[in-house]
Amino acid sequence: METHAVNPWVAVAYLVAGVCFILALRGLSSPATSRKGNRYGMFGMLIAVVTTLMTHEIASLPEIVGAIVIGGGVGFVIARRIQMTAMPQLVAAFHSLVGLAAVLVAVAAFLNPGAFGILGADGNILTVSRVEMALGAAIGAITFSGSVIAFAKLNGNMSGAPIMLPARHVINLGTLILILVLTGLFTNSGQAGPGENVLFWIVVALSFAIGFLLIIPIGGADMPVVVSMLNSYSGWAAAAMGFTLHNTAMIITGALVGSSGAILSYIMCKAMNRSFISVIAGGFGADAGGAGDGGTKEQRPWKRGSAEDAAFLMKEAENVIIIPGYGMAVAQAQHALREMGDLLKEHGVNVKYAIHPVAGRMPGHMNVLLAEASVPYDEVFELEDINSEFAQADVAFIIGANDVVNPAAKTDKSSPIYGMPVFDVDKAKTIFFIKRSMGGQGYAGVDNDVFYMDQTMMLLADAKKMVEEIVKAL
Ligand code: TAP
Repeated sequence: METHAVNPWVAVAYLVAGVCFILALRGLSSPATSRKGNRYGMFGMLIAVVTTLMTHEIASLPEIVGAIVIGGGVGFVIARRIQMTAMPQLVAAFHSLVGLAAVLVAVAAFLNPGAFGILGADGNILTVSRVEMALGAAIGAITFSGSVIAFAKLNGNMSGAPIMLPARHVINLGTLILILVLTGLFTNSGQAGPGENVLFWIVVALSFAIGFLLIIPIGGADMPVVVSMLNSYSGWAAAAMGFTLHNTAMIITGALVGSSGAILSYIMCKAMNRSFISVIAGGFGADAGGAGDGGTKEQRPWKRGSAEDAAFLMKEAENVIIIPGYGMAVAQAQHALREMGDLLKEHGVNVKYAIHPVAGRMPGHMNVLLAEASVPYDEVFELEDINSEFAQADVAFIIGANDVVNPAAKTDKSSPIYGMPVFDVDKAKTIFFIKRSMGGQGYAGVDNDVFYMDQTMMLLADAKKMVEEIVKAL
């Protein structure tokens, strides 16, 4: 059996890079240390890239540098142009590229095993390499097609509503079992030949199909879990590539991304009160309803407030809790909001920011925006830490959030967000609700009883404009 001699210096360099990545993840676990974490990550990546450049085996230096320049150039242009609100779909698109890269590496290794040093003494691909290759291709293909669907749903190219195939659980389970059986046959087929070719390509095709099948039934408000789950898959796809390429840094990095993505998915499931197993199985959302379906809208009385009303009542308040959501990101209202918070504090008001784990369109979305506007970290609270405080709050100030304050999640079993923990804003004495119109709903596309409550005043305007007016009135 052929073995790969690893230069000890390369092993040490990759190990140092791996340690940097672990420190990066540790740093990213808190907003206060996240910049330090990012620096560790960049340093680790620098070590990994330089080491790879110095020890390149498969491609020549000009090929590698050429690929970096082209890929880096495209990435640079996209990153400069992308709107902050389109970040989630960009992340989904990037995950799809990781998945596709894993498939292509596996295909390249399959078609040219000699170049990858994975041929045994009998001239056939080594069994262990077959396992790595099949896993890499399968996980990569699932990541690719799943991410393409997630992109289309988040970007509005495809309806966000769940698409429920009849007997989908049977189809999904059957396809998964078939992939496993064919992978087993491919691994044990032992020699090159037409049979081996057919098995490999069927595994790849079925994996593309299962990625698609797993994501199309997911809709409504459940996309956050999908995004983090695909993040995890992309990590495992990269780890599988690392095995095929005999690159320790890639295996370590892939495993770190895979496991941290899995932990994030678990946290998201907890936040959404969904079962982790049914997420993996696909189609865990409600069987009806879903994003953008509009629901049935009733004509119910509601009260319109003004910037002056909000300024007056908040100035007199003792406790104000601000709940930011996706609309704040759309309006880029975070700087004006911080200014408003500062002015209220000058008036002796106790101001707190309440962040729901799935507020916005990506994990940590609101934390990033508030940090960008220099909102002090000690004023920012997680759902479970602040929810009991709404009963003592004079004002709940909802800015661009909707689903995360919708009481239907607690009471309406037919709602697509049923079961998701939400802020108890209805317990506050007064509620100000900023959104642009009574028609526009949240991501899940369902009406919100909070609009019509006695203590609610709707502030219908662009969030940034409304907050700037409140600041003026203060
Ligand atoms: P949403 O429920 O999406 O509601 C956004 C609100 O902002 C809407 O009421 C919208 O009403 C308003 N809005 C939009 N643009 C605005 C602007 N320029 N000025 C003022 N208001 C504006 O927000 P949320 O509560 O943050 O929702 C989170 C939802 O997204 C959940 O269902 C969650 O599951 C889903 N989701 C989350 C993620 C992650 S990872 N966080 C990923 C995908 C999906 P108007 O149109 O009337 O203004």
